[in-house]
Amino acid sequence: MSSLFLRLLLFFLLSNFLSAQADTNITLGETLTPLTPPTSWLSPSGDFAFGFRPLESDPTQFLLAVFFNKVPNQTVVWTANGGKTTNYQSKAVFTQDGGLSLRDHAGNEIWNAGVNGAASAAMLDTGNLVLSSSSNSGTLWQTFDNPTDTILPGQTLNQGTSAYAKLTDDNYTQGRFMLKLQDDGNLVLVPRAYPSAFEYEAYWSTETSGSGINTLVFNSTGSLYLSYPNGSVSSVFSAPGLGYSGGGYYLRATVDTDGVFRLYAFPKNSLSTGRWGVKAFVPSDICESLFESRGSGACGFNSFCVLDADGRADCRCPPHYSFLDPDRIYKGCKADFISQSCDLGGETAFNFTEITNVDWPLADAEEFSPMGEADCTDNCLKDCFCSVAIYNNETCWKKKFPLSNGRGGSDVNRKAFIKFSTVSDPASLIKEKKEWKTPILVGSLVFGCSAVLVPLIAFVMHKRNMRALPRTSGAVIGPALCSFTYKELERATKGFNEEIGKGAFGTVYKGVLPSQPATHIAVKKLESLSQDAEKDFTNEVATIGLTYHKNLVRLLGFCKEGTHLLMVFELMSNGSLNRLLFRSDRPEWNQRVKIALGIAEGLAYLHDECRTQIIHCDIKPQNILLDDNFEARISDFGLAKLLRLDQTRTSTGIRGTIGYFAPEWFKNVAITAKVDVYSYGVMLLEIICCRRNFEWGPESQEKLTVIGWAKECYKNGRLDLLVAEDEEAKKDGTRLERLVMVAISCVQDEPWLRPSMKKVVQMLEGAISVSLPPNMCSILS
Ligand SMILES: *[C@@H]1O[C@H](CO)[C@@H](O)[C@H](O)[C@H]1NC(C)=O
Ligand SMILES: *[C@@H]1O[C@H](CO)[C@@H](O)[C@H](O)[C@H]1NC(C)=O
Ligand SMILES: *[C@@H]1O[C@H](CO)[C@@H](O)[C@H](O)[C@H]1NC(C)=O
Ligand SMILES: *[C@@H]1O[C@H](CO)[C@@H](O)[C@H](O)[C@H]1NC(C)=O
Ligand SMILES: *[C@@H]1O[C@H](CO)[C@@H](O)[C@H](O)[C@H]1NC(C)=O
Ligand SMILES: *[C@@H]1O[C@H](CO)[C@@H](O)[C@H](O)[C@H]1NC(C)=O
Ligand SMILES: *[C@@H]1O[C@H](CO)[C@@H](O)[C@H](O)[C@H]1NC(C)=O
Repeated sequence: MSSLFLRLLLFFLLSNFLSAQADTNITLGETLTPLTPPTSWLSPSGDFAFGFRPLESDPTQFLLAVFFNKVPNQTVVWTANGGKTTNYQSKAVFTQDGGLSLRDHAGNEIWNAGVNGAASAAMLDTGNLVLSSSSNSGTLWQTFDNPTDTILPGQTLNQGTSAYAKLTDDNYTQGRFMLKLQDDGNLVLVPRAYPSAFEYEAYWSTETSGSGINTLVFNSTGSLYLSYPNGSVSSVFSAPGLGYSGGGYYLRATVDTDGVFRLYAFPKNSLSTGRWGVKAFVPSDICESLFESRGSGACGFNSFCVLDADGRADCRCPPHYSFLDPDRIYKGCKADFISQSCDLGGETAFNFTEITNVDWPLADAEEFSPMGEADCTDNCLKDCFCSVAIYNNETCWKKKFPLSNGRGGSDVNRKAFIKFSTVSDPASLIKEKKEWKTPILVGSLVFGCSAVLVPLIAFVMHKRNMRALPRTSGAVIGPALCSFTYKELERATKGFNEEIGKGAFGTVYKGVLPSQPATHIAVKKLESLSQDAEKDFTNEVATIGLTYHKNLVRLLGFCKEGTHLLMVFELMSNGSLNRLLFRSDRPEWNQRVKIALGIAEGLAYLHDECRTQIIHCDIKPQNILLDDNFEARISDFGLAKLLRLDQTRTSTGIRGTIGYFAPEWFKNVAITAKVDVYSYGVMLLEIICCRRNFEWGPESQEKLTVIGWAKECYKNGRLDLLVAEDEEAKKDGTRLERLVMVAISCVQDEPWLRPSMKKVVQMLEGAISVSLPPNMCSILS
């Protein structure tokens, strides 16, 4: 196949010189093909040809076109089929019924000229392909009436006719610009919102509306003018004094891909070495003309346009930006760094590169005057919406993203400061976004408490019997915790009168700290701790104080006064997951999925990422709180040691939360972080089904736990039963299955078969696939 193709191609290359016949008249039934002669019909002089022309970038694709036959690149002046290409098996036919037709390999018509009944056709020396009727050679159809992007000498454009720029140098379909002689007599250049046909405002015109002008004429000596009804003319452009009248040049006027309408000349006496020279063009400055409040300007967003000598738009990217598509540079530029996030702040990770004589005049976000240069850049640095600061003569303009209508040139009297990220690894920014940065000291100014700096030594040595945190200076890591007096907390909670929860540790009360603005708090009063636990209190509090994650409830401070042990947390406004999940109007599926992921991320942090591994030991919906944004926050972590849960594996120790406990609690084996994974799995099923582990609907005959039920449904391929009446979840079948599989993998009896929480997060996100052990019987038993 490929060798046949090469042979054909070689044949084609040879045939280019031999084949095309200089027939003046083309007769009915004559056919052209891309590779087998004849491939084209020539004009009598051989200057022009109509036929198949391979695409430069892909010689297996062919245009059916009129082209300059003798100039080196066989410059195309007209295309059939809207500039779309066909393959080597296509055919062009002057049909028996007098029409012009382009057909594919099977003979199906791809395009036709829209007329029938022509008696003859001819490729004329003007470059016009004409279909004529028999009666007195009346013209039925001609390419001169249906221009694509080029007008030739001798051609006129009538009212309402348009010529379109091609899309790129090697893509001949209609592009972004149009030359149009409007019905009102105005000749305009108009940008189009590619790929639609929507027309923006004209960026150039002859300003001849209402003049009665009805034709644009390109005469044989290279003058392009509009002709008034009374016979006078108005020149569009001309190339005087070059002797075009002698016929020494090929001429064409083309609407180019950059929106400029140019007159080109090619010297006939140096066909092999010559090139098309630009002799005249409008508009005179495309960069300036193509200003639009809508759209991006001549060169696309985030780029700037510099005018070259041929009136060409030389599109460039600012430093730290690169072309979206190097083959279509007018599409604009993209930043090579991650833009400043308004969430992260992170202005320290940005700096500026200065360039001169560049401006984006229509992208103003703000203007300051008077303002110095340093203040100008500083202001832009702190503004997450500002991508460039422009400065000139005490005036500062902040430019917003994306930048539009950029222009460069010696007349642009501006300095541009291009903001860019100095972070070489953008991934680190993303990670930063996931976790909270260690907040600044929550000091006495805020809460009116005395801040205790948690010294590093407390954790490195982990001394169990410290009586109190030393109020010393020292290597401060992490945040400060407030040390409250009992009186302060008594006042904040109005004498511990509003109870908001009760747990294994004691009671939780609502309170307010008299800070500015007021801080709402939850005060946990620890009760009935053992003597040992009291001793460990400070250490545990310090450990907890060092944790910072968006899915953990934050510890703000504590109080240790005699037997009074209290912990102060930020108040979670939306209560517990327990309340949210099991009420009649269940939360939406997407919200549930988000909560499930949040909890997993919080647990993964406790297990793997914080300084000292923290095993929660009591994961259940009651211990998941919801903040203002309904983001899940794990509470009561780090307290397990105080309760000595690991030493009291008796029914009393685990009463109330039995459904969430991993089997190893009841065996004489070591307790690891995998107990949390088990509890998480149970809770994940509850989140999926909005059903308590030990609750069964009246219709359910078998009194299954949610685990048993989920395994049953999974085994039978009926996951839809788990989310009955939850259309949203059912529609999201892939994710539903993923979540159920994750949950099942978490609740396996053997701790080592359960995934780590880090893996769970990845599986939930779909970053890795969920692996259930090969032996399904064992998990489904
Ligand atoms: C070409 O066709 C036209 C009109 O059909 C006819 O007048 C002319 O004589 C033909 N020329 C030749 C060379 O056949
Ligand atoms: C020209 O561009 C159009 C639109 O992007 C595309 O569909 C077509 O395939 C391109 N043609 C060629 C020959 O690349
Ligand atoms: C073409 O138009 C120009 C300007 O109107 C005129 O000077 C010139 O004589 C015209 N040439 C021909 C061949 O009509
Ligand atoms: C022809 O008409 C145009 C526009 O109406 C006018 O400007 C011009 O002077 C007229 N020329 C002559 C010779 O009357
Ligand atoms: C022919 O095309 C090639 C590649 O597109 C270009 O480099 C060259 O300048 C063209 N030659 C002429 C005479 O336009
Ligand atoms: C920003 O760049 C300038 C010039 O390259 C350099 O002197 C300065 O230290 C940089 N600032 C930061 C914060 O990186
Ligand atoms: C700078 O701006 C001031 C007032 O805005 C103006 O008077 C002065 O001429 C400007 N200087 C230059 C060099 O443009």
